[in-house]
Amino acid sequence: MADLSTTYMGLQLRNPILAASSGLTNDIHDILELEKFGAGAIVLKSIFEEEIRIEMEKDMAQMNKATFLYPETMDFYDNFNQVDDELTKYLTLISDAKQKTSIPVVASINCVTAEKWPYYASILQDAGADALELNVFTLPTNFEAKAEETEKLYFDIVTEVKKHVNIPVSLKISFYSTNLGALIKKLSATGIRGLVLFNRYYNPDIDTDNFSVISSHVLSTPEELPLSLRWIAIMSHRVECDLAATTGIHSGKAVIKQLLAGASAVQIASVLYKKGKKYLEVMLKDISTWMDEKGYKTIDEFKGKVSQSAIHDPAAYERVQFMRYFAGKGV
Ligand SMILES: Cc1cc2nc3c(=O)[nH]c(=O)nc-3n(C[C@H](O)[C@H](O)[C@H](O)COP(=O)(O)O)c2cc1C
Repeated sequence: MADLSTTYMGLQLRNPILAASSGLTNDIHDILELEKFGAGAIVLKSIFEEEIRIEMEKDMAQMNKATFLYPETMDFYDNFNQVDDELTKYLTLISDAKQKTSIPVVASINCVTAEKWPYYASILQDAGADALELNVFTLPTNFEAKAEETEKLYFDIVTEVKKHVNIPVSLKISFYSTNLGALIKKLSATGIRGLVLFNRYYNPDIDTDNFSVISSHVLSTPEELPLSLRWIAIMSHRVECDLAATTGIHSGKAVIKQLLAGASAVQIASVLYKKGKKYLEVMLKDISTWMDEKGYKTIDEFKGKVSQSAIHDPAAYERVQFMRYFAGKGV
């Protein structure tokens, strides 16, 4: 019988499928179901940097500044009017998830600056989060900025957050980059424990009747798998941290492909929306069956077996032009 257990970012997982950060990981009942149907770990819905900042203002408004324990956070509170309890709810979700499940719980922060808020990452750690995923990306629309200036944000955020937490930290990034492989390699050497390739964002579409911008498909399709598959395969032997694959993973076979490319784990959301959380059981069964058929007892026995470094034709992952390849094949 195949053993699907593995490690990701130093966390012991019963299998490599994480429930990705989404609306399905924002509620304790959903989280309990995800655990029941087999998720290896849960990445909670991201809390937004903005929500943390609002909560900080609320804290400051409610307490005597002179007795505030953390002087490093005292220098910027000038607007106490907005009060929100998103951070409080998030902390409750973390501690509930920790108390009621036995799988690792990864907190997630959507961050766009490295300033002022990173101290609060330690509060997520104190609430019981086993790891922290930083969901970092804004579309670079300052066309005067150099690529390095845009990318510096990632490094600044990691540096600041790591000052405040000792749980494993991962970065969930975008594929929009001038020199993607070099960026991934440099990020992996910052002391983070995981890189998640690649987040899938809100995309625009155009309503041709109303001449307005609308939301494109929110959920992925299996056809979106190759982007992360290519980069996991190219980078898995070049990085100093674990890689997790996300986007377009809709079947057990797709999970196997990512593991063969060198991923340590995968994160799934769309397939759970489309087919229900119970579909996790089908995906896990398919992985187990495949491992049994191939004679693999553990994931380590085949992880990275079809990464770029392991195959006879490494150029296969770098081929981007069709040239004559499909000529006359009716594609
Ligand atoms: C409705 C929805 C909400 C999401 N919210 C978040 C989020 O808060 N933070 C985050 O890092 N990713 C978020 N994601 C992205 C997913 O975590 C995942 O990486 C992405 O959807 C690609 O995986 P998939 O193809 O399995 O959906 C969201 C995705 C969906 C569909």
